[in-house]
Amino acid sequence: MSAFDTTWLDLREPADHAARDETLLEAARAFLRGGGPSPLAVDLGSGTGSTLRAFGPDAAVRWRLVDHDPRLLDAALVRLEGFDAVERVVADLGTLPADALAGARLVTASALFDLASRAVVERIAARLAAGRIGLYAALNYDGSTNWDPPLELDSEVLAAFNAHQRGDKGLGAALGPSAAEALRTAFEAQGYVVRVAPSPWRLGADQRPLRDALLAGFVDAVGETGAVEATGLADWARARRERPAAARVGHWDVLALPPED
Ligand SMILES: C[S@@+](CC[C@H](N)C(=O)[O-])C[C@H]1O[C@@H](n2cnc3c(N)ncnc32)[C@H](O)[C@@H]1O
Repeated sequence: MSAFDTTWLDLREPADHAARDETLLEAARAFLRGGGPSPLAVDLGSGTGSTLRAFGPDAAVRWRLVDHDPRLLDAALVRLEGFDAVERVVADLGTLPADALAGARLVTASALFDLASRAVVERIAARLAAGRIGLYAALNYDGSTNWDPPLELDSEVLAAFNAHQRGDKGLGAALGPSAAEALRTAFEAQGYVVRVAPSPWRLGADQRPLRDALLAGFVDAVGETGAVEATGLADWARARRERPAAARVGHWDVLALPPED
């Protein structure tokens, strides 16, 4: 099971919120509100509830958080001040029980589907289509990470990192950088109207804690692949830590809505 800690999720949340495409987020809110008197949104891979905070409290809306990590669900409930109707379900995305989606108007997710396989995405698309449920999936990593100033080893490190992103994270071979494209294909095949928009992180040289955590994640992942010689990787990481660098990390947001009758 892939484990995410609250420190990393807390660190990335401001950058995630700044990056989300506001037009797609507002369209997702509008679709949700159009679902009768007390619409239900189900947030898959909710972590500590970042997506709910991006939507903002709305007394008319009910939320269900679904994650396989009960510790993150517990942490979410104490971080959701102002949200009244929130339930939690411990479940794995690969074997999602029917009651996890029951009654949903909209399924949301963020920073999730790059961990999933194409088969999982296709199964979820079919299940959402059967219930005419919308999907808002934000912050799907697209394989681009550009550092400024650049270093000679950047492209070799990035290629190894992206290869690691495609490894099995518990749900089969992960989509990694292909997640947004796979979501579009799977939902269009179900007759959905799909919109995508870029949502890159733009980290300034002053956003040191997140940039250093990102760098540490790169070093761990690339180290696991063995694709970059260890001394070269250590030198690259040291140079990156010593020189304040800005970074742009590419993501895409996806909104897939069922066709109108
Ligand atoms: C990168 S975190 C994103 C969390 C949150 N959506 C956010 O944007 O902060 C990925 C989340 O997916 C959950 N997750 C990963 N694999 C899962 C699986 N197979 N089933 C259910 N949840 C999973 C993790 O526990 C984690 O909370």
